Amino acid sequence: MPNSLTRRNMLKGTGAAMLAAAGAAALPAAPALAAQASTTTAPEPGESTRAQRLAWWQAARFGMFIHFGTYSVIGRHEWNMEEEAVPVVEYAPHAKEFHPHPGSQRAWAKLAKQAGMKYMVMTTKHHEGFCNFDTKLTDYNAVKQGPGRDLVREYVEAARAEGLRVGFYYSLMDWRHPDGAICATDEAARKRFVEYTHGLVRELMTNYGKIDILWYDVDWPLTPEGWESERMNKMVFELQPEIIVNNRNGLKGDFSTPEQHITAETGGRAWESCMTMNDSWGYQAGDDNWKSSKTIVRNIITCAKGGGNYLLNIGPKGDGSIPEESVHVLREVGEWLQVNDHTVRDTDICQPGSSVYANFTCRGKTLYMHVHYWPGEYVAISGLMTKVKSAMLVLTGQPINFVQDEFRVRFTGLPIEAPQYPVTTLEIECEDIPTQDTGFVRKNHLRPSV
Ligand code: GLC
Repeated sequence: MPNSLTRRNMLKGTGAAMLAAAGAAALPAAPALAAQASTTTAPEPGESTRAQRLAWWQAARFGMFIHFGTYSVIGRHEWNMEEEAVPVVEYAPHAKEFHPHPGSQRAWAKLAKQAGMKYMVMTTKHHEGFCNFDTKLTDYNAVKQGPGRDLVREYVEAARAEGLRVGFYYSLMDWRHPDGAICATDEAARKRFVEYTHGLVRELMTNYGKIDILWYDVDWPLTPEGWESERMNKMVFELQPEIIVNNRNGLKGDFSTPEQHITAETGGRAWESCMTMNDSWGYQAGDDNWKSSKTIVRNIITCAKGGGNYLLNIGPKGDGSIPEESVHVLREVGEWLQVNDHTVRDTDICQPGSSVYANFTCRGKTLYMHVHYWPGEYVAISGLMTKVKSAMLVLTGQPINFVQDEFRVRFTGLPIEAPQYPVTTLEIECEDIPTQDTGFVRKNHLRPSV
């Protein structure tokens, strides 16, 4: 079997199966990669300061992911090199055609802010091996190739100018580096490749001021021991004591990274669901499978309900411009958040969840009912075990009448048409922390004899 197929199958992991089980977003065009969590129980670097380092990020809830590299010029998805088995000698020259407009990153950052995002994570090096930053370790970098400038520096400055936190994505897997595959079986190659990898990470952690997130990706073909991941994270925390680090270098890290699906972590562990707006992370000209603003808003709500973050991707073109479809959707999401921000940020994990036309978030004794399929003049919740004290429409602040018995609460006198697009939110004050038990309704519902 050709090497690329073996590798691809291996990388596919369980992502597709999990996606199907979750019934979530569309299947990604590229393999969904399952991060291998370490099984060690010994404390990892940074563990003692984790909660404190994570606090801003958990409050931030919503961030922008950006996939940008040579693949953005080619326009055939960021896995193009491997998925079409393009030889390095044929692929690498495209880096000379990469000419993003100065100021593109500023436009991304402005859009992120408009969309209600609080942080950004950009690819500094993806699997293709091209470095978007100035490095002494390879000439295959943005300064020496087409852009002629340090794109990471421009990105960092743009994000900061808009008051957004800064994250670096870094792919451990490298399809171009001569040792990138052979390091699995040749110890001298492993040593060289690990030094190269740690060296690049060191440059990233040293040359750009305070960095808020390090987002590793794909630890093929080495184990965490092979990557010397503990030593690498130790260096990262020495250089950036307040940074947060994900789990894709084989260690547990600070947070989990469900990909293309939303699955809440348990036991208080932090998590962030990352997702594409169509089916590609890097620009793919032919991919027209765009998610609607309704889907995106519903996903933000689902993340908030489970106490997680949502990292939503844009794949700019080689000239740095963002596909119009994603600009449009992100603006709609931002408009919705202007009214509804407090209903999805700084919220608690929320137990109620059963409705065929709504989802829920909670803060203390307040329940937010987010109606995505507006049914008409009343909406109802089955099995709400907490007494409702009052309710209002978030959009207008208008009070809403309601009637409640032991099985249901009905909010009445509502407009026939949905008051807000794409989701209308009701703010419901309860006597206690809201809980729902539809099983109670099923068992006890009055059943007159026939
Ligand atoms: C997968 C893909 C990659 C993408 C990443 C984002 O690992 O290989 O292309 O960057 O997911 O989570």
